[in-house]
Amino acid sequence: MVILNHRSRRIAGVAVIGVIFALMLGCTPSHFQSTFDARGPVADSQLFVFNVIFWVGAVVFVAVEGAIIYAVIKFRRRPGDGDPVQIHGHNRLEIAWTIVPAIILAFTAVPTIQGIFFMANSPVPPERGGLEVDAIGHQWWFEFRYSNPNDPNQQVVFANELHMPLGEPLNIRLRSVDVIHSFWIPKLGGKVDMVPNNDNSMWLQGDFEGEFYGQCAEFCGVSHANMRFKVIVESRENFNAWLLAQAMPAPEPVDVLAIQGKELFRKAGCQGCHATNSIMNLADGGRRLPGRVGPNLSHVASRLDLVGLLPNREEGVLTVNDAMIQQNLKTWLTDPDDVKPGNIMGRQAKVYTDPDSRLEESEVDALVAYLMTLK
Ligand code: CUA
Repeated sequence: MVILNHRSRRIAGVAVIGVIFALMLGCTPSHFQSTFDARGPVADSQLFVFNVIFWVGAVVFVAVEGAIIYAVIKFRRRPGDGDPVQIHGHNRLEIAWTIVPAIILAFTAVPTIQGIFFMANSPVPPERGGLEVDAIGHQWWFEFRYSNPNDPNQQVVFANELHMPLGEPLNIRLRSVDVIHSFWIPKLGGKVDMVPNNDNSMWLQGDFEGEFYGQCAEFCGVSHANMRFKVIVESRENFNAWLLAQAMPAPEPVDVLAIQGKELFRKAGCQGCHATNSIMNLADGGRRLPGRVGPNLSHVASRLDLVGLLPNREEGVLTVNDAMIQQNLKTWLTDPDDVKPGNIMGRQAKVYTDPDSRLEESEVDALVAYLMTLK
């Protein structure tokens, strides 16, 4: 038997407490990325399958480990014991341990297969008039496109913040423009891969109003962990109003600094990657035309978080705070690589790669003033 000295015992104790603490943090339903707080039917179905498999696994674990511990104690070697009885094979036991796992697997297969069919078949698919969104993975942000309510030949493009109407199935078409990403909203369901040149689809529904966290769940490069988005589940009326606002152009800047910023946005080449018009013609097919490399900025100043990471409002509040977004835009434009390491803008935009083209602080301020008008 291993005898632990005082110090080893303390280290072991701290390690055990650390592991328990880590497990508890991951499992608490109040955590914004916890799957134990299902807020829609798809997440409910996934949680149900998890629970069935977990508890069946727990019973198997206790039974097997219990049998091992029982055998170790009961049949331990005692002083004066000779060689144990030598046996080979035990038909009844071998049949039992073949049949019992087969029954357990058949039992867990029922909810698993039911769940797979439930998740694969939207209750209101797009061909029956269901709402559909295109979700497109980019390193490292999410692009979304809804059909334009004013013109079915157009789509409304936005980024990093998905709105969906309460209690309605949302059909999601998943794509990627670069590497494999995975679409996951822990409290609503997931994860389905976003694969280049191979569209996947899924459906989700939010049964509670509020804000939910989305996260890329497939390692996709250095800023994989920073590839996040927000989901707002809201009433149909609020959703319709939000989508109509997204479809409208932002007001023209009137402030002198903002007008300078708009001019600089053009001159510095920002518009080569970022569109400031939220409407895309379906006939364009979403190819990488000018303005579609980076996130669409038409309404960037209305987003709750900048680049999916920096909160533009106080915690829990769903309205943008001007001072916070101003500071965040400045932080981002000054050094995007510091916020989202490895991002394309920091690596490729001339204002960051060419020391002679670097943005002066006054230029950053002008760009911020312009971007603040894109509401
Ligand atoms: Cu995209 Cu990880």
